[in-house]
This record gives sequence, structure tokens and C-alpha cells, in this order.
Amino acid sequence: MTTGLDGVVVANTILSEVDGDQGRLIIRGLPVDDLAGHLGFEAAAARLWDGLSPEPETAESVAEALGAARRVAFARLEGLMGAGAELPAIDGLRLGLAALPDVSDVAPHHLVTGAVPVFLAGLMRVKRGLQPLAPDPTLGQAADFLRMLHGEQASDEAAAALEAYLVTVMEHGMNASTFTARVIASTRAGVVASVVGALGALKGPLHGGAPGPVLDMLDAIGKPAHIADWLADALKAGQRLMGFGHRIYRVRDPRADVLKRVVGTLRSEGNTRLAFAEQVEREALRALAAHKPDRPLDTNVEFYTALLLEAVGLEREAFTPVFAMGRVVGWTAHVFEQERTGRLMRPQSAYVGPVAVTSGD
Ligand code: ACO
Repeated sequence: MTTGLDGVVVANTILSEVDGDQGRLIIRGLPVDDLAGHLGFEAAAARLWDGLSPEPETAESVAEALGAARRVAFARLEGLMGAGAELPAIDGLRLGLAALPDVSDVAPHHLVTGAVPVFLAGLMRVKRGLQPLAPDPTLGQAADFLRMLHGEQASDEAAAALEAYLVTVMEHGMNASTFTARVIASTRAGVVASVVGALGALKGPLHGGAPGPVLDMLDAIGKPAHIADWLADALKAGQRLMGFGHRIYRVRDPRADVLKRVVGTLRSEGNTRLAFAEQVEREALRALAAHKPDRPLDTNVEFYTALLLEAVGLEREAFTPVFAMGRVVGWTAHVFEQERTGRLMRPQSAYVGPVAVTSGD
């Protein structure tokens, strides 16, 4: 029997459709290419939440609510700094989110969404020996995060690129972290617990933890002349090439092209890796096709995520938490949908262990 739940449908959803054969992603009725780079973070979040969360959501109301949420989160930051800053950023973020209240003046889905950039920027600054910076509620979520992290206003190109990334990864069907959120939501545990569980699932390298290792791979390869041998040796040693392969997509992940385009706009920002990465991608696809001729393995979202996040000045440690900054919108929308339409999720297992035989009369 399969243990990966392949092909099992656990929910009906109005949030997104992932068509793995066609390489198509629809998010609330729109192809991902029509969302990313066209709709801002707040407008895209409103589109996902509206009709599922308790109140109507518009780009304006979400911008206002997230501005307020970032302020509330900043007031809680000091309590997080001691233990949180000693942990890897993803774990510090988990600690901060876990301490958020379910009930406050700010709705919980706005609170967790506004808290991610504040906690992450604050943790990363304290790790560098710097003071956290207060949020600016007049800025959008992406621009405010870059400002709180770097201590200066981001360029329009960098803020737009990060925003396009956050929208691209906001929602993606029943992936491992979203499924986790829905299982927790199905017990009526609420938004905060569901998001904390989802973040735990996102951490692993088979899901959201791949982009840092993508850059590690590019570093390890080093130069064009080494690409083919490095990839062959890695595959021979049984390693997985990070940024390639997907459970659902049998063709190229459509998000990879969206992000590749955005990275192209950042060439002038000092992104010198793109040409080299494109060469590695070409060689990797060739090597994977030869290595696993029966299993289509193509580029996934994480390959160009790594280049984009590096080009906007983020450290590798922040990559997976920044993924959470976008995906938290999808998680919370799924929590609402599960609460409205779902039942307690309670699958079964098949017992394959021994049974003690008791001697009877
Ligand atoms: N490099 C080399 N071999 C691979 C890769 C890869 N990137 N991906 C899959 N394979 C191989 C497996 O080793 C396996 O070989 P085997 O049958 O000899 O054991 C075969 O292809 C089938 O792989 P599965 O594990 O069944 O594929 P699954 O659907 O479970 O995995 C996954 C999908 C986890 C994404 C996988 O392709 C992988 O590990 N990729 C690298 C990590 C990565 O990029 N993760 C980010 C995914 S995107 C996201 O979650 C946001």
C-alpha cells in the first residue's frame, strides 16, 4: 500500500486547482501568471480570504488589518527575543507564532499573517546584533518586511519582486503543510494552532526547506566546467537534486517560470547567479531524465525561489520563513474552509504488527 496518500482527495476546495499533467495552477479562478506581478499581496490575500473568513475582505481592509497586526506583533516581539534569537529563524518564528492569542482586537488570520514579517525581521536583526525596527503600517507587507529587515527603504524593484514571490506561493492545493493545517483545523483547534502545525510541516527539505540547499548546491558546483560531473556524482551517491521533482507536477512547475521572469527583472540588483543557474538547470534536467527515465522530474518552484530571495538580499536562513510569509494566507483560508465545510479528519491505519496468541481452554 502507498504511504504517501498519493491521489487521495481529502477536501473539496474553492481555493486552488493544481493540474500536474498540464502544469497549470489556478488560484481562486485565476491562473497564477495572472496573479503574480499583477495583484499586490494585500489584494491577493483578500481574494483568498473573502467569503471564507468571518468578515468581507478587500485589498484596502486587508492592508489596514495587516498594518494593525504588525503593530500588535511588534509589541510582543521583546518577549520572543531571548529564546527565539538563539534558535534557527524558522524555529524562532514558530515560537513567536505559538504564543499569539486566538482572541484579540485583531482577527487571528490577520494577526498571524502580520506577525510573520515582524517576527522574522526582528529575529534576523537580533541575530546580527541589531535592534528590531518597528513596522510602518502605511507600507505594504512586502516593502515593510524588507525595510524592517534591512533598516532602509527597499528599492521598488526589490519590493515588487518579493511581493510577486509571496503571491506566487500563497496557495497550492493540498500540499503537506496545508494538509497539516486542515487536519488541525478539523479538530476545531483554531487558526493559531493550525498555522503553527503547518509551519512545522513546511520546515522539511522535501517541502519548503529546499531553497537554501539549492544555493548550497550552486555554491558546491562552483563553475560551469564542474556542472556535469558534480550532478552525476550527486545522483550516483543517491542524493536528490534540490529544486527538482514534485509529487503532483509531471511537467514543469508553472511557478518556476513566473519566478524566473521576476528574477530577470533583478539582474541590475546584482543578481549574477541567473546565467549560471540556468546552465545548472539545463544540465540537471538532462541528468535526471537519464537517471530516472520512467519518472518525469522537472524544475519546481524552489529552484528560482532561491535566486529571487538571494537577489532581494535575504540570507538562506530566512528563505523558508519567507515562504511561510506568503503561504500563511493559504493556510488560514483553508482553516476557514475546513471549519465551514469539513468534518473531523480521522483516517485509519492497517495494523501489521504481531498479535500475542493467548492460550485458551
Ligand atoms: N533528485 C533526484 N532524484 C529524485 C528527485 C530529485 N530531486 N526527486 C525524486 N527523485 C527520485 C526519488 O529518489 C525516487 O527514486 P527511487 O524510486 O529510486 O527511490 C523517485 O524519483 C520517485 O521519487 P518520490 O520520492 O516517490 O517522489 P515524491 O513525489 O515523493 O517526491 C519531492 C517529491 C519530495 C519533491 C522530490 O521530488 C524531492 O525530494 N525533490 C527534491 C527536494 C525539493 O526540491 N523539494 C521542494 C518541493 S516543492 C515544495 O514542496 C514547495
